Amino acid sequence: MDKLIATGGGPLQGRIRVSGAKNAALPLMISSLLTEETLRISNIPHLHDITTTMELLGQLGVKLQVDEKLAIEADASEVDSVTAPYDLVKTMRASILVLGPLTSRFGRAEVSLPGGCAIGSRPVNLHIKGLEAMGAEIRIENGYIIADTGGKRLRGARIFMDLISVTGTENIMMAATLADGVTTIENAAREPEVVDLADCLNAMGAKISGAGGDEIVIEGVERLHGADHRVIPDRIEAGTFLVAAAISGGKIRINDVVPRHIESVLDKLRETGCVIEEGDNWIELTAPVGRLRSVNIRTAPYPAFPTDMQAQFVLLNSVADGTATVVETVFENRYMHVHELQRMGAQIELDGNTAVIRGVRQLHAAPVMATDLRASACLVLAGLVARGETIIDRIYHIDRGYDCIEEKLAQLGASIRRVPGHYLERRSA
Ligand code: EPZ
Repeated sequence: MDKLIATGGGPLQGRIRVSGAKNAALPLMISSLLTEETLRISNIPHLHDITTTMELLGQLGVKLQVDEKLAIEADASEVDSVTAPYDLVKTMRASILVLGPLTSRFGRAEVSLPGGCAIGSRPVNLHIKGLEAMGAEIRIENGYIIADTGGKRLRGARIFMDLISVTGTENIMMAATLADGVTTIENAAREPEVVDLADCLNAMGAKISGAGGDEIVIEGVERLHGADHRVIPDRIEAGTFLVAAAISGGKIRINDVVPRHIESVLDKLRETGCVIEEGDNWIELTAPVGRLRSVNIRTAPYPAFPTDMQAQFVLLNSVADGTATVVETVFENRYMHVHELQRMGAQIELDGNTAVIRGVRQLHAAPVMATDLRASACLVLAGLVARGETIIDRIYHIDRGYDCIEEKLAQLGASIRRVPGHYLERRSA
């Protein structure tokens, strides 16, 4: 397992382009299961989760081609399996997204229950409840979700999501596109990735309205056709790089981003004293001279502050001037980065889902361990502002969600490199 070495240095400066959004690309690729025609998706990020999704679709019989511009063409005309096996699902929870499309188009699906993960138990009861409401018989057997429509088409239903779930909304929305009748999803997730999926499904001939709001209406159709869709930019990658520039006292411009997708993050960065300018598809951040001001954060579903940016703001507050609280309301165990930051000198008190952070002038380097995707990015950023050489272990978490993070950070002047797993930290003299 490789490691990353980040050395504390000066301000990050320059411009970068963010990749396509992982959390949009995954459901978009999986929506190819809903049609026998070819679906072409461009602006796909080069991530491990994308490779896993291609492997999963391949195992179902979807024919995949990657064209010269790294767009993916998926052809599900000869799907010959409806089973998503445990050995794949356990590496990527988003595999659960094949449940709706397989059940809706083929009348049957066998999907391994995704285990929990580092950040929480991650139940899928809402996915199951939605499909049952549309007429699927669902039972759990040997760790698998077995869905069966008895050879009938799913039927439209009114479904109330008692918790706002991004993939829950996406799974039900995809299934509903081929159902007989109208499905209404109430208390739906409003994330931009849900809207991007709805836009693609409509381009494929679906009849979806209201995506982006809390009530989505899907009028079922007989079949969907192919389409050509570009993945939206990754708002979390963009937010991560903005925090890197802010805490290093730098100035960066991010291209090919949708500012309103991270309005809540931009708002908080302005509160820390950063100057932010934005255009249709770019954001420019200039950090203040001197230290950032601490900011209180409370994560919640979109359009509120995203849980995927929580770790990065715990880091920001760790080196800001003042004391701040961060409240994580979405996942029950998303503070693993705190223990690693404390080893670097951060002053953080954890009390349940609340972190109280007293900013210090500078963190110091230490060997740390990544535990989940966004926590690992926060540790890389911490290494860029800590005194000395920080070695981040278990960086496969990063490779799942950040496309070439060390190249992009190095492009902005960061001192960061990837080393083989056996590399040992030199004891500082
Ligand atoms: C999506 O996860 C994202 N993943 C996550 O990004 C993101 O953190 C999360 O939404 C919240 O924004 C993808 O889109 C692939 P949820 P998802 O269902 O859909 C509870 C990253 O870093 N819940 O919205 O799996 C659940 O326990 C990842 O890129 C149920 O109780 O999250 C949680 O408390 C991490 N029952 C809350 O809802 C269900 O059936 C939100 O989970 C489903 C969810």
